[in-house]
Amino acid sequence: MHHFQYHQDSLSCEDIPLEQIAKEQGTPCYIYSHATLTRHFQAVDQAFASVPHIIAFAMKANSNLAVLRLMASLGSGADIVSGGELFRALKAGIPSNKIVFAGVGKDHKEIRYAIESDILFFNVESSAELQAINEVAKGMGKQARVALRVNPDIDPQTHPYISTGMKKSKFGIGADLALAEFERAAALPNIQVVGLHAHIGSQLTKISPFVDSLTKVLGLIQTLKDKGIPIQYLNIGGGLGITYSDEAPPQPKDLAEAITPLLKQSQCQIVMEPGRVIVGNAGILLTRVLFIKDTGTKKFAIVDAAMNDLIRPSLYEAHHDILPVLRIPNRQEEVFDVVGPICESGDFLAQNRTMPLVKEGDLLAVMSAGAYAFTMASNYNSRPRVPEILVKGRESFVIRERESYDDLIRGEHIPGFLTS
Ligand code: LLP
Repeated sequence: MHHFQYHQDSLSCEDIPLEQIAKEQGTPCYIYSHATLTRHFQAVDQAFASVPHIIAFAMKANSNLAVLRLMASLGSGADIVSGGELFRALKAGIPSNKIVFAGVGKDHKEIRYAIESDILFFNVESSAELQAINEVAKGMGKQARVALRVNPDIDPQTHPYISTGMKKSKFGIGADLALAEFERAAALPNIQVVGLHAHIGSQLTKISPFVDSLTKVLGLIQTLKDKGIPIQYLNIGGGLGITYSDEAPPQPKDLAEAITPLLKQSQCQIVMEPGRVIVGNAGILLTRVLFIKDTGTKKFAIVDAAMNDLIRPSLYEAHHDILPVLRIPNRQEEVFDVVGPICESGDFLAQNRTMPLVKEGDLLAVMSAGAYAFTMASNYNSRPRVPEILVKGRESFVIRERESYDDLIRGEHIPGFLTS
């Protein structure tokens, strides 16, 4: 359930018509619903109420400071993957003892920053990384807390680019090698082994891969215990899918029901890293039709948002519903490609989409654009990144300003020899 609904044929975010936001802020812009963000966080939190848990929001999905502050106020921590994300999380007031740090390529500077910030633990992805963390911690005269990320070799049955828990992927330590790696880690003087991490992929729409992965790591946790390496934290990652078109993913409570017995059996404190399920359907991208172009072969709705603003359709052939902001009853339908102004044929938001006839000047809402949308935006074609707006009831707040042309060239320099 989300709070982007039609009120008398005018699509609104909570109590504000999107048309009004377009008038005030221009287009394109991202719009997030405070009530939806809150509701989705709480749905996950409540679903797992019967096990001690920390929700470390996967901020790669949405890292706006205001969104993070809202998450913090609801009790969230953060799953980070870079020094930049750590900086944002701390700025937003996320407590460092609820921050976990994943990613296959952490550099020494990032490792030092995380140890200095006293994060909860690193999710370690290789023996080389373990070595690097041990070295940096030694130089600082500290011990670093780590969880080893185990790759359980389970097919998450999702898009190949967002599958992470199979043998062929770059993530984690193979289940067959994990025991030896845990033993090595436990023997390193500046490493404290506290956890085990397993994240198998994103946009999962079935429960069984979660169950299979957990079942596999539970065996390992028991073996580790027997070997004198007790595991305090079990990090189950994120990955729960959402409805973009007609998927019917399990609800957080369905997933919790299925895996709670396994989580209890682990006797660990649970850490989870949901991203998309909290923010995905809590945001939209608002765009305006610039031109209609009929080539005889195809009809294009050329809009002012493009692949640099929302790359998911181009990169993953992802489906995002596109709704007219003003609904005209009984309007005839036509097939359009909804494309942006970027000079690439790969620049589209939808292809061969049957939708109510659109015309120049119409506003369209690209739905389910709260996750992996603004965070993946770029300045390609020197397009300023668009603003982000948070709506709460009847109020709206600009939580990131539209970039200016000056922002585009910030930090660039023309060397003297080119100007003399
Ligand atoms: N934990 C780890 C270690 C992850 O790698 C990810 C996502 C998450 C948690 C959060 O997963 P979620 O709950 O959001 O599914 N750009 C892609 C998604 C990339 C996901 C990367 N890792 C997309 O637009 O679909």
